Amino acid sequence: MARALLLENLHPQASTILAGSGVTPVEHGGAMDEDELVEALQGVAVLGIRSKTQVTERVLAQAPGLQAVGAFCIGTNQIDLDAAAARGVAVFNAPFSNTRSVVELAIAEIIALTRRLTVKDSTLHAGVWDKSAEGSHEVRGRTLGIVGYGNIGSQLSVVAEALGMSVVYYDTAEKLALGNARRAPDLESLLRHSDVVTLHVDGRSGNAGFFGREQLAQMREGAVFLNLSRGFVLDHDALADAVTSGHLSGAAIDVFPEEPKKRGDAFASPLRGLANVILTPHIGGSTEEAQEDIGRFVATKLRDYLRTGSTSLSVNLPAVALDRVPGTARLAHLHRNVPGVLATVNRVLAEHGVNVDGQLLTTRGAFGYAVTDVADGVTPEVVEALRAMPETVRLLVV
Ligand SMILES: NC(=O)c1ccc[n+]([C@@H]2O[C@H](COP(=O)([O-])OP(=O)(O)OC[C@H]3O[C@@H](n4cnc5c(N)ncnc54)[C@H](O)[C@@H]3O)[C@@H](O)[C@H]2O)c1
Repeated sequence: MARALLLENLHPQASTILAGSGVTPVEHGGAMDEDELVEALQGVAVLGIRSKTQVTERVLAQAPGLQAVGAFCIGTNQIDLDAAAARGVAVFNAPFSNTRSVVELAIAEIIALTRRLTVKDSTLHAGVWDKSAEGSHEVRGRTLGIVGYGNIGSQLSVVAEALGMSVVYYDTAEKLALGNARRAPDLESLLRHSDVVTLHVDGRSGNAGFFGREQLAQMREGAVFLNLSRGFVLDHDALADAVTSGHLSGAAIDVFPEEPKKRGDAFASPLRGLANVILTPHIGGSTEEAQEDIGRFVATKLRDYLRTGSTSLSVNLPAVALDRVPGTARLAHLHRNVPGVLATVNRVLAEHGVNVDGQLLTTRGAFGYAVTDVADGVTPEVVEALRAMPETVRLLVV
C-alpha cells in the first residue's frame, strides 16, 4: 500500500481523503529539515506540506519512490518545481481555497473604514463618548474601484454589488464584467471616480511599487484605500502621507513589503498608529473554512493523480484529465518534449499487440504527458519497453 507523509499539521481532511483512496497517511506535526526529510521519504509515494518544508533538488533526487507533492497552501516557492518535473513528481496546490475569506475581510474593512469604526471603537475604549455622524457613510450607492479583476477581485465585485455598491474595475487583461460592474478605460479613470479603491493584483515582478504617490494623488479627496494583494506593490510611505494629510480618510492594509518571519515578532511600518487605518498581519486568507477547503482540495488532487494520472491544475506538469475508458488499464507517460515520442509509444504498443482505446497528449515547456487507455496486454515487457525509451521521465500504470 502506498504511503503518504503529511507534515506541518495539515487539516484532518487530507488524511481522511488519502486514507479513503487506499493510501496510508503518516502524520508528523512540524516541518522537517533537508536531512530529516530525505530519511523520512524512503518508501513514500506522496508528500504533503505547507510553506515551511523545503523540497529541494537534493531531497527529490534521494526520493525515487516519490510520485506527488501536495502544497497545502497557495504558494509553491518552497518546492523546486523544475527539479520535481524532471523526476516526474507532480506538484499540486490550492490556488482558490481562500478567495472567499479575502473577499469577506475586504467587505468588512470597506464598511469599517467608511463608518470610521476603529476610530469610534478606540475612542470609546479610551473612555470618551463621541456620538456623531460626521465622516460616517453608508456603503450603499458608493463606488468601489477594484484594481485586478481575477479570482478575488471578481468575487468581491459580486458581493459588493449585493450591498448596493456601484463597481468599476481595471485589469491589464481582458476580463468578463460580472453583474453590473463596469470596466474602467484606464487606472487613472478608476481612481478619479471611486470612493473606495482596493488592490487585488497578482505578484508579477512588474507590479513592484506600481501604486505610489502619483496614483494616491489621483484618488478622490476623502476616499479610502485597501491592499490585500501583495505588500511590494504599494509605496507605504506615500500612503502614510496621503492619510496624514487628510487626502485619504482611511486605509486597510493586510500585506507588507517585509513581513515578520513568525508569530510574536516585532512589526515596523510608517502606517502604525494612524487614525482610521486598519492593519492586519496577512490574514486575508486565514480562516478555518479556508484551511478545511485547502485540505480537501489538495488531497483530492493527489488522490486523482494516483488513481487516474490526472494532472489537472498541477503547477509543474502538463495538464491532462482524460475520462477513463471503462475496463481499461491506463499508461501515464511523462517524457521529454521532443518530436516523435507519441509515435514511439504507439509503435511499442502495436509491436506488443496492444490496442489503444483512448489517448491524450499535452505538453508544457520541456515535458510532454501522454495518457493512454488500453483494454489488455499491459505485460511487464510492454512496461519495460516504454520505461526504456530514452525520452521517458516516468511511467505510471494506474
Ligand atoms: N491577503 C491574503 O491573505 C491573500 C490571500 C490570497 C491571495 N492574496 C493575493 O491576492 C492577489 C489576487 O489573488 P487572485 O487569486 O485574485 O489572483 P488572480 O491571478 O486570479 O488575479 C490577479 C489579477 O490582477 C490582474 N493584474 C495584474 N497586474 C495588474 C495591474 N498592474 N493592473 C491591473 N490588473 C493587474 C491580472 O490580470 C489578474 O486578472 C494576489 O496577489 C494574491 O497573492 C492575498
